[in-house]
Amino acid sequence: MSRNLEISKYLKISQKYLDFSTTMVHTAEYLPATGTSISSVLQGGYNHPLSREWQQEKQLTKNMFIFPLFVTDLPDEETAIPSLPNIKRWGINKLIPYVKTLVDKGLRAVILFGVPLKDGVKDLVGTAADDPEGPVILAIKALKKAFPDLYIMCDVCLCEYTSHGHCGVLYDDGSLNTEQSALRIGAVAVNYAKAGANCVAPSDMIDGRIKDIKTGLINAGLAHKCLVMSYAAKFSGNLYGPFRDAAGSAPGQGDRKAYQLPPGGAGLARRALLRDMEEGADAVIVKPSTFYLDIISDASRLCKDYPICAYHVSGEYAMLHAAAEKGILDLKGIAFEAHQGFLRAGARLIISYFTPEFLEWLEL
Ligand code: PBG
Ligand code: ZN
Repeated sequence: MSRNLEISKYLKISQKYLDFSTTMVHTAEYLPATGTSISSVLQGGYNHPLSREWQQEKQLTKNMFIFPLFVTDLPDEETAIPSLPNIKRWGINKLIPYVKTLVDKGLRAVILFGVPLKDGVKDLVGTAADDPEGPVILAIKALKKAFPDLYIMCDVCLCEYTSHGHCGVLYDDGSLNTEQSALRIGAVAVNYAKAGANCVAPSDMIDGRIKDIKTGLINAGLAHKCLVMSYAAKFSGNLYGPFRDAAGSAPGQGDRKAYQLPPGGAGLARRALLRDMEEGADAVIVKPSTFYLDIISDASRLCKDYPICAYHVSGEYAMLHAAAEKGILDLKGIAFEAHQGFLRAGARLIISYFTPEFLEWLEL
């Protein structure tokens, strides 16, 4: 449209509006009637539910979900965790029937957390972590036998098994013995791999453990069969409470701030990601997720040739449930929004307590 034509049309239309001025409260008298240029029309691109899906660069699929399982040493245990809605602690006898219901819906991967509940099993070095009769090793074997195609990951840490509740081995003064901790964690990882774990995922954040785990796996002849997924960027913070209720793993004294990262430490997170790749990690985890999308995005740049996993942790999950219960938001809607955010930021995998729901919600 020529400029003159445009102006005359505008004048004509504003005249028309002026004629109606007695009835119209608001008019667009200072604006041209047709203000939209071709390039500013976007809505046609997402007018239909299908075209809205096409706008996503990546779509959520069942094979990206990893479901956390809490396994106890009391064989018939089936206990709800009040702070972690819909999640239970399972004894080995109850675990298989429960997991069967999920495998039937398309579950592909689980991550195991051991929860020793028997009296007197916790000690200074977390011996129960890789007890051949302990919950994790028994669960690996039982799950492998029942579901040969299920991908079995093991969280590797000592906090559930130590009397002091810290993730490693301590000096007498209560500070962390880094070297002994990394060696002990390496040994536990090798024992999980020996039992048949497809992946070991150390969540302690103690310096040097990836190197020790990888070395141990190589020396045991298992490095070609076991993926090392490092919780490389794990922040200390306020979102692990329900997990610690579930696993009974809160530290007796002090906190984890001397080994998990400070929430403001984006640079440290980037250095830890690079360090763990150097030391032999095959994949990396960023944890928590919702408040750390920038770190997921950093990881997708720094570790672009590695699978990146977001861990939607217990506190984030419980928060969404609490908000839904209060009527603040819709649970399914917010779950999709949160998990789509992880993909957008660059994650390929998601450890999520919402996995059973997504197996229902997703077709593929
Ligand atoms: C063990 C471990 C924790 C989580 C995963 N592995 C707790 C912690 O570090 O205190 C937290 C997961 C969650 O909150 O869902 N180190
Ligand atoms: Zn720990």
